[in-house]
Amino acid sequence: MMLRSHIVGCGSYLPSRIVTNRELAATVDTSDDWIVERTGIRQRHIAAEGENTSDLAAAAALNALEMAEIKPADVDLLIVATATPDNTFPATAARVQQRIGMTGGFAFDIQAVCSGFIYALSVADNFIKSGQARTAVVIGAETFSRILDWTDRGTCVLFGDGAGAVVLRGAMEKGGNTDRGVLSTHLHSDGRHYDLLKVDGGPSSSQTVGHLRMEGREVFRHAVVNLAEVVREALSANDLTAADIDWVVPHQANRRILEGTAKKLGFPMERMVVTVERHANTSAASIPLALAEAVSDGRIKRGDLLLLEAMGGGFTWGSALARF
Ligand code: UT7
Repeated sequence: MMLRSHIVGCGSYLPSRIVTNRELAATVDTSDDWIVERTGIRQRHIAAEGENTSDLAAAAALNALEMAEIKPADVDLLIVATATPDNTFPATAARVQQRIGMTGGFAFDIQAVCSGFIYALSVADNFIKSGQARTAVVIGAETFSRILDWTDRGTCVLFGDGAGAVVLRGAMEKGGNTDRGVLSTHLHSDGRHYDLLKVDGGPSSSQTVGHLRMEGREVFRHAVVNLAEVVREALSANDLTAADIDWVVPHQANRRILEGTAKKLGFPMERMVVTVERHANTSAASIPLALAEAVSDGRIKRGDLLLLEAMGGGFTWGSALARF
């Protein structure tokens, strides 16, 4: 017998304001055609003035807790993966803890940019398996609209705001790859690529918030290679092949990256959850947003084998394999 982290709830929240490519083309030298052809993105949600990462995160968390039929007071671990915290400190997770009425346990943030949700899921899973937590809320929440340089067409068209969450609960399973819950997680980072995707500000280096800067082509090249490797690693660690996976729930950066990864690994695109055309890149929020969408519309069913993967600034990358 072994302790597994079951995914007992999923939830999401998107700000109500939608900004289309055409609207962006009115203020920056770009076009709907270019953005759709190079990225697959058609629109993104943008947070309202005064609507912060913690607001998005709290809404997604409550939504996930509702599906799980678990009260906030019964949660003993809350993790927010974000690169756009409300404040430099305290952790956005502390604000979310207060907002949802979680009165016990402990809460903290994790920073691994676009891989943040995979990192947070892995950390929560390990807390549950070690017995230090029983019920965890794992959130990916971002307001990237606040750190974009809206005059840089190479980056400002790519990102959006949003939040997604899952509720994990420890449960005994017999052990093996037919178990429900998180079956494995694999994390990687390589700080040699720090400067290829970063925010050029921060409290210690510049006392400013800064703006997102990216060498897009270089990041793209590394993404396809690293994602294919981390997926192969997850499959081989669990004695599985691509054909065993019911759904790939990837980080949504660019439709071409998803297609490149699918092709390299022999996954049909029909078994990939794709939201990038409507959400754009929501960094740490993209995987739990996609997961919540595919669960609520009935594509993902109980018992399905899911492979989650992401790559982002750092570089960081990783995967999580779970039976829903
Ligand atoms: O989530 C974390 C990971 N992030 C990513 O995975 C992003 C990875 N990178 C990408 O998705 C792609 O590299 C981009 C979408 C950022 C760029 O696509 P690309 O096919 O690599 O284009 P490029 O950067 O090579 O630029 C091609 C051309 C350039 O013009 P010239 O030099 O060929 O004349 C750019 O100036 O497209 C131009 N360009 C644009 N044109 C219209 C760049 N951005 C735009 C734009 N509208 N928004």
